[in-house]
Amino acid sequence: MADTAIRSNSCLNCSKPAALKCPKCVELKLPNSYYCSQDCFKGTWTVHKNIHVSPFAALDAFTGFRFTGTLRPSSQTPKRTVPLTISRPDYADHPQGVALGERKAKKSGEILVLNDDEIEGMRVAGKLGREVLDEAAKVIDIGVTTEEIDRVVHEACIERECYPSPLNYYQFPKSCCTSVNEVVCHGIPDLRPLENGDLCNVDVTVYHRGYHGDLNETFFVGDKVSEENRKLVAVTYECLQKAIEIVRPGVKYRDIGKVIQKHATANGFSVVRTFCGHGINSSFHTNPTVPHYAGNRALGVMKAGHTFTIEPMINVGVHDTVMWPDDWTAVTKDGKPSAQFEQTLLITDNGCDILTQRQSGRPWFMDQLEEKYKN
Ligand code: MF3
Ligand code: CO
Ligand code: CO
Repeated sequence: MADTAIRSNSCLNCSKPAALKCPKCVELKLPNSYYCSQDCFKGTWTVHKNIHVSPFAALDAFTGFRFTGTLRPSSQTPKRTVPLTISRPDYADHPQGVALGERKAKKSGEILVLNDDEIEGMRVAGKLGREVLDEAAKVIDIGVTTEEIDRVVHEACIERECYPSPLNYYQFPKSCCTSVNEVVCHGIPDLRPLENGDLCNVDVTVYHRGYHGDLNETFFVGDKVSEENRKLVAVTYECLQKAIEIVRPGVKYRDIGKVIQKHATANGFSVVRTFCGHGINSSFHTNPTVPHYAGNRALGVMKAGHTFTIEPMINVGVHDTVMWPDDWTAVTKDGKPSAQFEQTLLITDNGCDILTQRQSGRPWFMDQLEEKYKN
């Protein structure tokens, strides 16, 4: 009695406490598969049913994996398609998603200086990327799945004649990245419903007529985000703003990390070292590499006509990251929360233009603070 009462069985779909068992698993005497509701049972059925055929299929990539926090992967829906009338990056049709053009550009070591037409292409891509992220922002709420956010992003891209850059990039399976709580970056949208108190970053990149625009914001879900997590998000945003302030011709790319780390550590947080900002143009990720930590040895000096991203990932606990066995989801090593903000920038003669800036000039989380966290 006590034994069954104490043991907490978590739902295979959403990881909440669960009491229902898959009847087929019971019949076949397979290890107990628990679900919290019929919806969750249905939600993961297409994947789950395989273990009835071959119980070994249950020994998937995650078996035996030591999760660092409480978040679990849920099931994914099939890959979406983009109408062939929309221009596509080369990797969209490569069987392994290899970005051949980008590889070649990166090898040269050069940082491209864009001409006026190319700059105009980047301005349009940045503006459309922003519109798409704003569409996603409007639907984020308790109970909404990250899969639903991905659907909104995918459709908003198509409406704007954009290819969603993440889709098939080195076989990434979805159209944007959704990174919840301890996920640092590159979370894969799935059927887990967002919960009151979650942090959820949405990272959108669009490819429009040959140019990429890349941005992300971290959002609050509901009205129960802890004070510490609210501070994490605010400080992460400030880190990005302070970094943008020093951008102008003549500054070394390696100096960006100093500004970010100073502000993060002054507030008791750590800076992720595994992932960097990047040059972006007709390539998704190219030169320069832009580390967010101090003491880095990044190459290159800023010049008018360069386009690149700054996208600091800031953690409550340790800076270290661990990769989930899906080979994409990067989580914090201690399972504590992480936040991120990203903009695509153009260096001008006396500073920079934020190509992915929101109309109001203010991130969504500040609106949320005003609406839901007044007092
Ligand atoms: N948008 C991410 C960045 O800021 C990259 C995502 S790559 C993906 O660089 F394949 F994970 F989508
Ligand atoms: Co980026
Ligand atoms: Co991005």
